[in-house]
Amino acid sequence: MDAVDDAFEAVPRADFLPRGVRRRAGVDGPLPIGHGGTCSQPRTVADMLRLLDVRPGQRVLDVGSGSGWTTALLGHLVGPAGHVVGVEIEPHLARWGAENVARAGMPWAQARAADPAVLGLPAEGPWDRILVSAQAARLPQALVDQLADPGRLVVPVAGRMALVVLEAGATRVSEHGYYRFVPLQPGRSPAGHLIHAAAATTASSRCSPRQVTRGPPDPRGGGYSSHGPSHSPGLTHAHDAGDPPASA
Ligand SMILES: C[S@@+](CC[C@H](N)C(=O)[O-])C[C@H]1O[C@@H](n2cnc3c(N)ncnc32)[C@H](O)[C@@H]1O
Repeated sequence: MDAVDDAFEAVPRADFLPRGVRRRAGVDGPLPIGHGGTCSQPRTVADMLRLLDVRPGQRVLDVGSGSGWTTALLGHLVGPAGHVVGVEIEPHLARWGAENVARAGMPWAQARAADPAVLGLPAEGPWDRILVSAQAARLPQALVDQLADPGRLVVPVAGRMALVVLEAGATRVSEHGYYRFVPLQPGRSPAGHLIHAAAATTASSRCSPRQVTRGPPDPRGGGYSSHGPSHSPGLTHAHDAGDPPASA
């Protein structure tokens, strides 16, 4: 049993689900939480948390906190000496998720509404760890810039799980299998212009990450493959506002 298993035991998913859905908490799939959202698939969350390698006392940012479950799991992993902030762009989910996290009784972990004009939470960074539960089209440089050194960022990019490790000023990017996620919403300036280009267009439904089965990619789009980690030049950084999605 590792720290992630321990966190799953300590932070029951059922506490982050609407009453009518709680009896399905043990299902290894995304579950609806209202406002078009879902609570992430447990196996996917476990994979991401293991890649993130969270240590007690760290400062962690959870982008796309939804129900607040991942924020609370992170809270358990960092312990009382740490600090976790979850940000959620959908206002109703943000409010409900914040209440769920508050009920978990870890005052060092909180969830709140994301500023729709800003990706992540740069004002309160840098962060030792950043978890992103929505898919970017390209590696969002704005989030890499919010990492402490050393630091780790886990983010789905164009269907593949990316791990960014920042150490001694150098970033290393590796891939860790194929997953499907809701698109990461781009920020908007008050004038309505896109201020970062991180949105992907491939997710079929809002907020439905799921781990996918091993095997080759299904050209019909009905299935995805998962393969071992590889260092990838295929993940490109998104530097410029308003760029079209890259094909990785
Ligand atoms: C997979 S869902 C939530 C998963 C959540 N960790 C859970 O277990 O309930 C991803 C969430 O990311 C949110 N999201 C998308 N883009 C965002 C952004 N730029 N900032 C904050 N949240 C975002 C979506 O509204 C959605 O609720």
